[in-house]
Amino acid sequence: MNSKKRIFSGVQPSGNLHIGNYLGAIANWVKLQDEFDSIFCVVDMHAITVQQDPEELRKKTIEIAKIYLAAGIDPKKSSIFIQSQVSEHAELCWILNTIVKNGELAKMTQFKVKTGIFDELSESESSKEVKEKANEIGGVESEKNAKYAAFQLAKKIFEIYKKEFNDAGTGLFDYPVLMAADILLYGTDVVPVGEDQKQHVELARDLAKRFNQKFGETFVVPESRIKKEGMRVMGLDNPEKKMSKSAESVYNRIELLDSAEIIRKKIKKAVTDSGSEIVYSDEKPALKNLINIYAAFSEKTPKEIESIYAGKGYGDFKTDLAEIIVGFLTPFQERYAAISDQEVLEILRAGKEKVQTLAKAKLDEVKTKIGFIV
Ligand code: TYM
Repeated sequence: MNSKKRIFSGVQPSGNLHIGNYLGAIANWVKLQDEFDSIFCVVDMHAITVQQDPEELRKKTIEIAKIYLAAGIDPKKSSIFIQSQVSEHAELCWILNTIVKNGELAKMTQFKVKTGIFDELSESESSKEVKEKANEIGGVESEKNAKYAAFQLAKKIFEIYKKEFNDAGTGLFDYPVLMAADILLYGTDVVPVGEDQKQHVELARDLAKRFNQKFGETFVVPESRIKKEGMRVMGLDNPEKKMSKSAESVYNRIELLDSAEIIRKKIKKAVTDSGSEIVYSDEKPALKNLINIYAAFSEKTPKEIESIYAGKGYGDFKTDLAEIIVGFLTPFQERYAAISDQEVLEILRAGKEKVQTLAKAKLDEVKTKIGFIV
């Protein structure tokens, strides 16, 4: 009997993986795979919640699995598989759909970000609108005018929400339920992810508890495991937003397969804050982010980094940072290039065989509990 606790996590094969994905998630998996019974998935069914080119999706699915291996996921210790090859995920998602509430999904940050609701509701726009309305009717001083302005704002928010909601695909809305199915299907104890996925893991916890209460003890209630360093790597072009596969500018991120030359160029272009000293502070969010990246790849603390660069400027710091990242990614990319498609497809097939047995057993238990004939 395997007494180890289980971890489950995954990455979408959409866009190019970056150091945020590595530091926030994959690096943590590599460390945890000795201690835990580990399952890592390439979540292609999640990827199709936004438009994908079919050939590109196939290519990316293989690329992600190779990245797992190059990063140090050992198929002898961990199972790696493709989500769409284990149809139990979709089946459990459907069953969980019957106990989740629309309101729980509507409040998910990722849904609001991906539909564009967040951007459209940006503070400045809404308050500008209110001010304009208030001015139209003669200033915000009087209570009546303030109420009118507030009403206008509420109306605008509702209209934006309604429009973006109606235009968004149902898959995008239901995304967290499929993620809950991924996690709950395997009796997962711990879900190692970046901070942006915490809300989704919370939903998985709520759904596990709700199902258990309705139908009797069935699911393990999972916990997220978020590594402090690297939990939220921010964009190199904008430290207010996280580094993202889907950010429009490539200068937002260092991709795991970027060449040394590109990495140097991107670090050089990375935004910095005013002043020239290398200090780790909330008042300098851009520099803080770069120091965090430096710290994560060099195993040095921000304090140590501050003292290395005392009396030096951004130029020296950035040059060294680029070399530290290049020094990590060069051997990583060599390992990546040495893995053949054939090899990775075999590992994925073996992974599928292994996890499907677990998935089928759990799904049969669920089906029996809810009254299906198995
Ligand atoms: P995805 O593909 O967006 O991201 C993969 C992992 O990378 C982390 N991450 C980051 N960490 C730190 N800084 C960043 N800038 C950054 N950007 C991304 C994410 O938190 C994630 O851990 N919904 C998931 C995939 C998924 C999943 C699951 C995860 C599907 N089913 C079940 C765990 C368990 C996602 O979109 O990840």
